[in-house]
Amino acid sequence: MSTRKGIILAGGTGSRLHPITIGVSKQLLPIYDKPMIFYPLSVLMLAGIREIAVITTPQDQAQFQRTLGDGSQWGLALHYIEQPSPDGLAQAYLLAQDFLDGAPSAMVLGDNIFFGHGLPGQLAAADAITTGGTVFGYRVNDPERYGVVDFAPDGTVRSIVEKPEVAPSPYAVTGLYFLDDTASERARAVTPSPRGELEITSLLESYLADGLLTVQQMGRGYAWLDTGTHASLLDAGNFVRTLSERQGQQVGCPEEIAFQQGWITETQLEARADLFSKTDYGRYLKGLIKP
Ligand code: DAU
Repeated sequence: MSTRKGIILAGGTGSRLHPITIGVSKQLLPIYDKPMIFYPLSVLMLAGIREIAVITTPQDQAQFQRTLGDGSQWGLALHYIEQPSPDGLAQAYLLAQDFLDGAPSAMVLGDNIFFGHGLPGQLAAADAITTGGTVFGYRVNDPERYGVVDFAPDGTVRSIVEKPEVAPSPYAVTGLYFLDDTASERARAVTPSPRGELEITSLLESYLADGLLTVQQMGRGYAWLDTGTHASLLDAGNFVRTLSERQGQQVGCPEEIAFQQGWITETQLEARADLFSKTDYGRYLKGLIKP
């Protein structure tokens, strides 16, 4: 089990998905058969993290609490923190400072979906680096929409640039950050960017300046799905549907991970299965219990 604490950053305005997100938070929208936040939650669980803070807007917090509860159904301890306004990703480390209480962390954005054989191993490798920070570079067609890794000719990381006009490489930095116990302290030194946000890239630059940033490549065998537009949201849902129907296995199922990790008992799993008995999801959970 990891000594890290987890953070899921699930605030923001969702304005790129209006009008859907006028009444409901983006991270609660369905990705085929489950709420979007189940997927990043599953990633933290695969990394062996059981104590997790969910950061939301004040107005959406009640809905997240209704969806996720206190986490005990998955053997987790979930905490809720409000972000009064979307002042940037690095602000999460200021808001979560008391929660972290000096622990190292793994933060995932509530709208990031990862899938790939070998993901648990890659997460374990990042978890094992206890000093500094680890982020994941993923090749995309449209790097300008993301934080982008700028590599020096010798392959070392020169900088991380947020939404550059001309991308220095095709490698986007995904929304999954393994940072050591200095993250909150470093975040305090970050000043707002021209667009008024405490940028995650500025925080990562602080690690880079000290020679403490590792960029792990997530290779072509991984899917890092976009949920930032109406079309990509639908595509992500179809991706999950295609895979889970073809394989008869769930993608991003917290109950399954909790059970595999030994965090919940068969009785607890069965209770969840019964709760969803009218769905394929519930029948899938039932099928995980040995006859
Ligand atoms: O998805 C990976 C990308 O996420 C990274 O490559 C970028 O470096 C990083 O800045 C971020 O880019 P986005 O354009 O996706 O950032 P956005 O402002 O859309 O925020 C990402 C998610 O975090 C989104 O679901 C809303 C949430 N959020 C955002 C801000 C600024 C918050 O919860 N609070 C915030 O203050």
